[in-house]
Amino acid sequence: MSAVIEERRGRIALLKLNNPPVNGLGWPVREGLDAAIDRLGKDADVDAIVVTGDGRMFCAGADIREFGTTPPEHVRGLGKILTDLEAMEKPVVAAIHGVAAGGGLELALGCHHRVCGPKTKLGLPEVSLGILPGAGGTQRLPRVAGVAKALEMIVSGRLVSEKEAFKAGIVDELVDGDVDAVIDAAVAAAEKLAAAGVPPRRSGERSDGLKEAQGNPSLFDDFRKSMAKRARGMNAPYACVRCVEAATTMALADGLQYERDEFVKLVDAIEAKSMRHAFFAEREVAKIPDVPADTPTRPIQNAGVIGCGTMGGGIAMVFANAGLPVTVIESEQSALDAGLEKIANNYAATVSKGRLSQEEMDRRMGLITGATDLTELAATDIVVEAVFENMDVKKELFARLDKVCKPGVILATNTSTLDVDEIASATSRPQDVIGTHFFSPANVMRLMENVRGEKTADEVIATVMKLSKTLGKVGVLVGVCHGFVGNRMLHQYLREAMFLVEEGALPQDIDRVIYDFGLPMGPFAMCDLAGNDVGWRVRQEQIKAQGGTPSNARYSGTIADKICDLGRFGQKTGKGWFKYGDGRTPTPDPDVEAIILETSKELGFARREISDEEILQRCLYPLVNEGAKILDEGIALRASDIDVVWMHGYGFPRFRGGPMFWADTIGLQTIAETMQRFEKEQGPWMAPSPLLLKLAADGKGFGDA
Ligand code: CAA
Repeated sequence: MSAVIEERRGRIALLKLNNPPVNGLGWPVREGLDAAIDRLGKDADVDAIVVTGDGRMFCAGADIREFGTTPPEHVRGLGKILTDLEAMEKPVVAAIHGVAAGGGLELALGCHHRVCGPKTKLGLPEVSLGILPGAGGTQRLPRVAGVAKALEMIVSGRLVSEKEAFKAGIVDELVDGDVDAVIDAAVAAAEKLAAAGVPPRRSGERSDGLKEAQGNPSLFDDFRKSMAKRARGMNAPYACVRCVEAATTMALADGLQYERDEFVKLVDAIEAKSMRHAFFAEREVAKIPDVPADTPTRPIQNAGVIGCGTMGGGIAMVFANAGLPVTVIESEQSALDAGLEKIANNYAATVSKGRLSQEEMDRRMGLITGATDLTELAATDIVVEAVFENMDVKKELFARLDKVCKPGVILATNTSTLDVDEIASATSRPQDVIGTHFFSPANVMRLMENVRGEKTADEVIATVMKLSKTLGKVGVLVGVCHGFVGNRMLHQYLREAMFLVEEGALPQDIDRVIYDFGLPMGPFAMCDLAGNDVGWRVRQEQIKAQGGTPSNARYSGTIADKICDLGRFGQKTGKGWFKYGDGRTPTPDPDVEAIILETSKELGFARREISDEEILQRCLYPLVNEGAKILDEGIALRASDIDVVWMHGYGFPRFRGGPMFWADTIGLQTIAETMQRFEKEQGPWMAPSPLLLKLAADGKGFGDA
């Protein structure tokens, strides 16, 4: 079957892109489109052309897999093809449905008239692939929709609804019907335009959208300032702004050339490679080799959540946000009332920011029911336990759930560290038990670490992976170990951050380096946000269990314990590693500095100047090293799964592709050698993992593991 199907509707030629699943504009499609434009332009039996996509969408843009490859010489770039399409004398109409993204929207903008069906998403998301719309999008969208709208859409990469696109003038006609109705309307529009005999309305020849910015060129600098925080460390967003700016100062042909040159600079850079890796990693994560895509799943029509604290409340919101009724259990009515009130306050805060309607809040609150008796969960399809992190408490609870819940229920635990197999052993149905580790705040963070126990049934895994998607989360399947993937790696990172402080750095130095690297915050601001008391209690328990701090290893909690002894639990107490005058902004605190200096002395460290490079390597290389161990042990299926965990659970920058991909870009040999040096300088906990050493010796990366 041809990559571009041609049909006739009377004197209208209908071109259907045919490249499932998303009609990506790969070589055969471009070749087909190019040839059709040439042929139809000369065909005396054709008055006008309609372009659409066969299957479930119009077109999701360039075929991302082709980036970095060289097309056959005769296949022209999309930009050139669209210049010819736009220049046609015969009217060209786009019949848009499903998705018009990236090159897909650029194709539509190259047409003279755009008809769009319902439930359609349109946009230029290239920036999230580390590139810019390279086929005229930065030149045509501002001409059609205005500079402000184009800047916002191109720099955010946001896809907008057909209604928003219509309001912005991006589409000319909305059709309420199925694909056939959209095509019929487009054919009718094409016939009308051909009959009118007026010259086509070419996006590239329009100037109305540019006027406002031409009269106010400082708009671009203002925009750059407004995006500085979000775009830190990246090139693509700034290149997008430069291109839109060029649209306001250059003739179309020059602007298109400028855009092309900027595109070429970006497409093979590490930023774009990292973001392409992130794109495919997020899709790969759903594929589990021994749980095929056709594994049956269990219907999930409602849920139960046990515990209505910070995590439980957040998880309940996640279900309600996805439209699933959820019963929340607390043993005491007062705790339940407080938890439900907190949920309501959370929603109310979103309403007050204008990001949720009151009606929608009421609908979601209506889906949440509180109860104090476990028997209320008798008919529930999935139960997520989010109680205190204590094995005995969890086992006792699962034994009770085993008695109360219907057969076939999925029993999930939100434990962040404990052994899921041991929890499962408290039931008579370990095949139905799985970990669903949400990340705090559960209603915001997109990651779900789905923890597969030794006996978890394939059907349960398939159901929970599917459920993650329904809940708007990215589910990553991991195995059982202390801390699973994310927290096990985090532990290495936090330990080194603490040691660096003992040796000479200050929390603000470390946080600055990590923030500049691209994480949303450094380790100390993160601990202050999460609450320093959590780790403190765990350390106290461990010390009690071991009968004192281990004498054969360096203890990382010395300063953290002193901070907690003073009640400095973080943001919630107004003070932690930093002080929080306004409640949220971390400010260095001389009192903390004094504690740090005094502790260094006690521990016998002559404080030294620590470079930013050392901070970065000491914090991140051990984290990567632990990732290698996790991979080697089969706790994660792929290195790219670990990247997804870190991007969605901890905000590791997408433009670095996640820690494992980032390590590959540094070179594993460098990482292994540095870890060997750290092992000598610091201690045995820094020893490089066997997998890291092997890959480094073979000149390979984690992507090859
Ligand atoms: N190129 C290659 N493959 C693509 C693709 C693309 N543009 N878009 C999606 N796919 C693949 C996915 O990898 C996935 O493959 P597998 O089934 O093998 O995993 C499959 O198509 C289905 O994709 P999703 O699972 O993402 O499907 P969805 O229905 O959830 O989402 C979508 C559909 C909204 C279109 C989403 O796929 C998407 O956002 N795609 C990328 C859109 C994009 O970024 N386009 C810009 C491309 S760059 C460009 O166009 C440059 C230019 O200037 C010419």
